[in-house]
Amino acid sequence: MIPAVTDPDNNEILKSLGCDLHIHVLPGIDDGAQNLNDSLALVDAHYRAGIRKIIATPHIRMDFFVNTQESIHNAWLRLTEITREQYPDLVIAYAAEYFADDYFLTLLDKREILPLAGNYVLVETSLRHDLVYFGDIIREMILKGYQPVIAHPERYKAWHNNPERYNEIYELGVIFQINLLSIGGAYGPTEQIMAERLIQQGWIGALGSDLHRVSQYKYIKQAVENPYFKSLRDLKLLNHTLLSD
Ligand SMILES: [Fe+2]
Repeated sequence: MIPAVTDPDNNEILKSLGCDLHIHVLPGIDDGAQNLNDSLALVDAHYRAGIRKIIATPHIRMDFFVNTQESIHNAWLRLTEITREQYPDLVIAYAAEYFADDYFLTLLDKREILPLAGNYVLVETSLRHDLVYFGDIIREMILKGYQPVIAHPERYKAWHNNPERYNEIYELGVIFQINLLSIGGAYGPTEQIMAERLIQQGWIGALGSDLHRVSQYKYIKQAVENPYFKSLRDLKLLNHTLLSD
């Protein structure tokens, strides 16, 4: 299997990141990589960028991406069968990006959760609508001993004009994870400005690429040029903790 050609000049631009803990790199199980070639193109781009640990986080969302621990494990096996040989010093682990809904609550009850590592669990909510019960689900996670890692708070449109919502969720004791793609302008100026504002406030505990396809890599390159990204370099992020986990 030959990886798709990627830009050779990614030279270690993400080495300071530690690991990527949010990426849709597993083949054919969500809206990210659709097949092994897509997966390998992403892996190859990240490897050239200096990444040596990837935590694959496919969506688990009722009605959209009904993945199970088994479907994720099988996709991970397909990918790592190849990458183990081609990139022997690259670690690929797997977890999931959970949509906070009733199905997620059921999984929480059964403790059938794939954490990023330890008790860290990546969770997202609606990009468009402010689901009022989101805070309750976060509280439930904490009650059950999980540490919520909120995926891309800068992307929740319903929160953009409501700084109180950011405070309210942050103060529950969560880790905010912003996307490199947001810092690089991939979703537009509003998400970029919101990401920069959260960085400025010192509220960022983790970074993820949230890459779905290798064509988005141009935004990763833009992100690393952004002074706000550079300002995160000296911070201890979850990415660095999980590198050795
Ligand atoms: Fe994602």
